[in-house]
Amino acid sequence: MTNEFRTLEAHSAEYFGDTRDYWWNQDFIDLIGRRFAFEKVHDVLDVGCGVGHWAQVLASALPAEAQVIGVDRDQSWVDKATERAAAWGISHRFRYQLSEAQVLPFRDASFDLVTCQTLLIHVADPGAVIAEMMRVARPGGLVLASEPNNVASSLILNSIGFKGPVEEILAGVRLQLLCERGKTALGEGNNSVGDLLPGLFVASGLTDVAVYLNDKTNALLPPYDTSEQRAMLEEIEDLESRDFWIWNRADSFRYFLAGGGIESEFDALWTSVMGSSERFVKAVADRTYSHSGASLNYLVAGKKMRERGI
Ligand SMILES: C[S@@+](CC[C@H](N)C(=O)[O-])C[C@H]1O[C@@H](n2cnc3c(N)ncnc32)[C@H](O)[C@@H]1O
Repeated sequence: MTNEFRTLEAHSAEYFGDTRDYWWNQDFIDLIGRRFAFEKVHDVLDVGCGVGHWAQVLASALPAEAQVIGVDRDQSWVDKATERAAAWGISHRFRYQLSEAQVLPFRDASFDLVTCQTLLIHVADPGAVIAEMMRVARPGGLVLASEPNNVASSLILNSIGFKGPVEEILAGVRLQLLCERGKTALGEGNNSVGDLLPGLFVASGLTDVAVYLNDKTNALLPPYDTSEQRAMLEEIEDLESRDFWIWNRADSFRYFLAGGGIESEFDALWTSVMGSSERFVKAVADRTYSHSGASLNYLVAGKKMRERGI
């Protein structure tokens, strides 16, 4: 199984499978390292680290002696991240501890790089978290966030949906947008907050704000024989077998109602987004299914201003 965590009762467990290892192109990470002078980075904080994927990706472009601390508010992820680092022999560089993103247990100006990936989509007040990340960054240091606009994905069409009825495509957009609005109304974050990040960075006082897009897509193309594609297929099949969309059905319903959706409308929308599973399985078996795998993932960077005279 490519996601050993998938049935844990912990935040984002469905998303910590092997597919997460294929989110970035290595040459793009190397480019980011050059753009942001990673060679000068010694201390890194990864906020909302989960089991550690993001800083471990960045580490390939960081100096070998750079020290990374990851924090997460879920103790089970702190434990799993610590176990993973030990298993890979990298505990001397990667340490993990419990912390809320809004109240980081570090002094002002402690890190050269403060970063997060798909954390701000889960917090009630992303501006407050960015301000806290900026507080613990050193003057001249970098705050770097990788966060998506996920609703855009409902208009990235695969070979089955491309010529599908307009109503079916709009049903997916409608369900996702209402659920995202509802998740925000419930104080659980907005899955498309990436759109707002550049403005939030400027509002928090970060300077030299730069906005990029991750250039990786996760294409699914016949004959689906790479390790990346096998992991993706396994994940899709597993999620569908458990009636899991972006969230499970119960959470989706809760978000949908909180976002202003009408209760009687939910079943039809759910069937519409989940209903193509048989067509999908057949098209994969026939080797006719394809998906560009595009998504809209921002990488937003800002610098903490140096103090005057320094
Ligand atoms: C989608 S996961 C991303 C994990 C990791 N950054 C990665 O990209 O692999 C979101 C993580 O943020 C954590 N999280 C959510 N809200 C948080 C908060 N307010 N403070 C700290 N961690 C939080 C969750 O426990 C979860 O591990």
